Amino acid sequence: MQKKKVVVCGGGVLGTQIGLICAYHGFDTTFWLRSESSVGRTTPKIERYAALMAEDLKGAKTLVGNPMASYLYPRGLIRSWEGTTAETIDGLLAGWDKAVKENVHIELDLAKALSGAYIVIESMTEEPKAKIGMYEAMRDLLDKDTILCTNSSTLLPSMFAEYTGRPEKYCALHFANTIWKNNTAEVMGHPGTDPEIYKEVVAFAAAIGMVPLQLHKEQPGYILNSMLVPFLSAAQMLWAKGVSDPETIDLTWQLATSAPAGPFKILDIVGLETAYNINQMKPAAQQEGTIENMIGKLLKEKIDRGETGVNAGKGFYDYTK
Ligand SMILES: NC(=O)c1ccc[n+]([C@@H]2O[C@H](COP(=O)([O-])OP(=O)(O)OC[C@H]3O[C@@H](n4cnc5c(N)ncnc54)[C@H](O)[C@@H]3O)[C@@H](O)[C@H]2O)c1
Repeated sequence: MQKKKVVVCGGGVLGTQIGLICAYHGFDTTFWLRSESSVGRTTPKIERYAALMAEDLKGAKTLVGNPMASYLYPRGLIRSWEGTTAETIDGLLAGWDKAVKENVHIELDLAKALSGAYIVIESMTEEPKAKIGMYEAMRDLLDKDTILCTNSSTLLPSMFAEYTGRPEKYCALHFANTIWKNNTAEVMGHPGTDPEIYKEVVAFAAAIGMVPLQLHKEQPGYILNSMLVPFLSAAQMLWAKGVSDPETIDLTWQLATSAPAGPFKILDIVGLETAYNINQMKPAAQQEGTIENMIGKLLKEKIDRGETGVNAGKGFYDYTK
């Protein structure tokens, strides 16, 4: 059977991960990149993420027999933990090498990249003008039946539908960073999305190892960030007001809800720069004396000290010990 073709536009952090997960799950995957210099930047990224995914897959062998394994395994790479053995994982690892060699392609010519595509996933910079330019460039090159999705985190598909030339075949398919472990795929149509196409995108998300999470209407921030952003803001408010310290706030949350991590541990994982950028978007953050302004200053102090979270080795917690 001929492999279905997926095209990913944008070879950044998320585009690279999306393309690799599609390739791993057997889709013929083409990264469309805009220039030779983009190829120079994206190729090492593909290699790095491919190595990270393979490393986590290999590491899953050490989980065999661990009672916590079903919480810890890379869910985007292993469909179900039940019955998984070291031999199963060896088989998947062999398949991984083959998939990266055979299924991953890079193309600079947009018409060639899009030709014969089953689905195109736009994962470019979060910049409306750039995304509109991309849709306008591809609208006359796409095959009649090609489905078009955006991975945008903050922009709604209804903002772009008219530029795509195929609003009925367009919706959002939103992934999370470290897609091979955090395998959520929020599927969000706009009012003009054909329900049959929506269903097809849900099925596609499952086919590439994701858990499709269906939104019945447009919502800025989807499901996850609609809950997570206010939760993290409330924790930062308690900290900035001096009500309590990050450790105690986390402990309160963990003890009371049995959650594995509290808000400040989550902020370290997300990265303090992202938390700062989200905070600064609030108009009150620009007004001296507001709690948002205090949060901004406190986060900035930490960022300036290089304490930006897990990736830096230190954030609210020290990860070097
Ligand atoms: N980073 C995350 O954690 C995350 C999570 C979920 C969704 N997203 C979404 O994914 C999308 C990409 O985010 P990212 O973090 O991968 O960004 P990134 O900055 O790492 O990558 C953006 C890519 O877009 C390319 N690009 C920019 N302008 C372009 C143009 N005019 N033509 C062609 N290519 C262009 C860049 O070369 C780069 O490869 C955004 O819409 C973002 O909201 C990001």
